[in-house]
Amino acid sequence: MIKTNYLVIGSGVAGLTFAVKIAEKFPKRKVVIVTKGDEDESNTKYAQGGVAIVLDAKEDSFQKHIQDTLIAGDDLCDASVVEMVIKEGPQRFKELLDWGANFDLDPEGNFDLGKEGGHSEYRVVHHKDITGFEIERALLKKVHQLPNITLLSHHFAIDLITEHHLENSNSEVISCYGAYVLNQKTGKIITLQSESTLLASGGIGRVYGHTTNPIIATGDGIAMAYRAKAQIMDMEFIQFHPTALYNREGGSSFLISEAVRGFGALLRNKEGYRFMPDYDERAELASRDIVSQSIDNELKKTGDTHVFLDCTHLDIKGFKKHFPNIYEECLENHIDIEKDWIPVVPASHYLCGGIVVNKDGKTSIPNLFACGECTRTGLHGANRLASNSLLEALVYAHNIFKYHSENSISPINFTLPEWNDEGTSIPKEHILVQHNLLQLQALMRDYVGIVRSKDRLTKAIDHLDFMYKEVEDLYKNSKVATSLCELRNMINVSHLIISQSLERKDNKGGYFNIDHLNN
Ligand code: FAD
Ligand code: SIN
Repeated sequence: MIKTNYLVIGSGVAGLTFAVKIAEKFPKRKVVIVTKGDEDESNTKYAQGGVAIVLDAKEDSFQKHIQDTLIAGDDLCDASVVEMVIKEGPQRFKELLDWGANFDLDPEGNFDLGKEGGHSEYRVVHHKDITGFEIERALLKKVHQLPNITLLSHHFAIDLITEHHLENSNSEVISCYGAYVLNQKTGKIITLQSESTLLASGGIGRVYGHTTNPIIATGDGIAMAYRAKAQIMDMEFIQFHPTALYNREGGSSFLISEAVRGFGALLRNKEGYRFMPDYDERAELASRDIVSQSIDNELKKTGDTHVFLDCTHLDIKGFKKHFPNIYEECLENHIDIEKDWIPVVPASHYLCGGIVVNKDGKTSIPNLFACGECTRTGLHGANRLASNSLLEALVYAHNIFKYHSENSISPINFTLPEWNDEGTSIPKEHILVQHNLLQLQALMRDYVGIVRSKDRLTKAIDHLDFMYKEVEDLYKNSKVATSLCELRNMINVSHLIISQSLERKDNKGGYFNIDHLNN
């Protein structure tokens, strides 16, 4: 048993930002961060394009950024949240600078601003094409300077502790008291008791085999919150990034940042035809949902497996300076961007929905907060505007910190039960986990992809039901193992994506169903 004041699940931008703020403000209180991989492994680490912030008052304005966000979200954003997040952006960015994160400057010494799809102005601050890596570096450095933070890497949060785990509890209200956490190195399960718990566990990209996300993105926090009966919304809005490097084997895919299109790269089919102007007047810089759906349509028309991003006309010196990582990765894949077009295809990238939170980051469960990609704040609506995600995490981490600074949380004055694994054994059939994972990813790719239909979604629910029963059975009889828990979580998350897709009756942003063409 470990007792703490604040438990943070996840060490990406959302979790680390909150941890740093609360630990600095209350040096006598304890903060524990658990994270299931190496301490820096997260979607944050791979963020390329940057953070969308209004800094250039001459060309840009809050109003323009607000408008771009609302248009991308296709009428489903919460306008008051959009305004709050965008107006707070510059202050939160200043804090990042104070904590030592470096961002590129232009020759005049101003912040170098990039442009991405759906943005009407240049407003994306960045550190070359490895912005997330730089933010993660700076935040972890701060974390290690604060003695009241304990960071436990390779610790996997299995489930939230709520009334469901308390014997003889007949409370109607479900509250959160911490989490059961697996030490992945020793196999021991810790009861981590906390007055306040923050889920900052990131996205769900791995539910689809073909994704820009690293292996940690298995939707654990959303699944835990769902099992604890928290409100979850907008799960049908999966964002597919239009330009992941084509990888014949599927699986993980390296991202070619949207900022490359902002720099002037053009999308072509294999005949060399530039097709995006046929779909949207903003062409390559239309919002992500439109570019991904257009590529999908081109691939269906031609039967090709991928399209191409043409950078051959661009200033190569400027390209190498802005995108050194992308340039190197292409070379490693035998693509010389000066001469060759880059083969690209859409891949699952970001979840716009998630655990419902209010402006203080409160979920529907008392003492449970959530921040970052695992949440549904109302900022993104049906489709996130590029580079609004790091911004959202920074702003909400601050709001959650502010809430905790101004409100006390009751101490827990009863004993939490230890994890009970009576009657379970070490599973002998690991093949079942691997087989079901591959089946799940194929199901989500083929039945719940960029273009959906009622028939495919209904079939998907039936297939999933079968997998759910098999995996629940295995889970109940097995000693806890990370891969099995992740599979169970991904099945929960897939269920939410499919069932909420079936509930939607019109096409919006990232949700496109061929049966709703006339709605
Ligand atoms: P993450 O950074 O994903 O962190 C989640 C953490 O939770 C990880 O540490 C993980 O290990 C941990 N965790 C998960 N489950 C458990 C568990 N069960 N137990 C313990 N720990 C757990 N957004 C932008 O705004 N601009 C960009 O330029 C940009 N580029 C991107 C490029 C790529 C390739 C990708 C994948 C995403 C990009 N995004 C970008 C999106 C953005 O990076 C993420 O949405 C954001 O970083 C999410 O931060 P987070 O802290 O919520 O989650
Ligand atoms: C990118 O660099 O294209 C990713 C930006 C984002 O996901 O916001």
